[in-house]
Amino acid sequence: MKQFIIDRTEIRASIAVVLGSGMGGFCDRMDDIISIPYKDIPDYPESTVRGHAGELAIGSLDNIPLLAAKGRFHFYEGYDIQTITLPVQLFHSLGIKSLIITNAAGSLKPDLRPGSLIIIDSHMDCTFRTSVTEPEEYLGTPFHDPAYIKLAIKSANKIDLSITKGTYCWTLGPSYETPAEVSYIRSLGGDAVGMSTVPEIQAATELGMKVLGISTITNYAAGIIDKPLSHDDVIKVSVQVKDDFTNLLTEIIKGMVL
Ligand code: HPA
Repeated sequence: MKQFIIDRTEIRASIAVVLGSGMGGFCDRMDDIISIPYKDIPDYPESTVRGHAGELAIGSLDNIPLLAAKGRFHFYEGYDIQTITLPVQLFHSLGIKSLIITNAAGSLKPDLRPGSLIIIDSHMDCTFRTSVTEPEEYLGTPFHDPAYIKLAIKSANKIDLSITKGTYCWTLGPSYETPAEVSYIRSLGGDAVGMSTVPEIQAATELGMKVLGISTITNYAAGIIDKPLSHDDVIKVSVQVKDDFTNLLTEIIKGMVL
């Protein structure tokens, strides 16, 4: 897998981005791109979800070498954790040290409006799958790099984008939560809810990468307001936020190499 990518490009990046639903437009800001469809990469799964192009973009951003995964794998697609985290493992084998993980998420709070972005400073696994027979150690390494969180806030200020920090909660999906579940997750202290990202954050941290997570708030989670909710609407809002999202990521990536 690694050799397949190395043979296709001279670019050697130390920063990578995982792009969430509808966020592939970020790559329009990149130069010298080569795109490798996931289906061409040996032993790589396919991305089956609408709004995910299913390709790896390798190029540069303001002369900074960059890898971008346009599309990810979800537990609800039937993949196991090993497969979901394959892009992170591939990035690590390619020498990536800094990983920005993005997603589309539902807001758990009325004052966190669709169209806004949040910096993930903590997360909760609300899939409640962990087996009690297999205790795992808490290693104490922060999952969300404190220096990157500061950089992200500074970058947002620089481009006049108002931003907050928050706790991202991972649910299994693919169905959206019920209002009662949303109310429960909110009572636990969550700010945003989504169906991805947490396994990728865990894998990247275990591999020693520095991680920054960013959510695009695409909707109010079920029951926060009285409005139906669909994946099409999620993608629509995600695409609408493209400029803010791209400007913020660009500023952050420039800050990462300073
Ligand atoms: N719930 C779960 N996942 C999501 C949501 C949501 O409200 N919005 C975008 N992804």
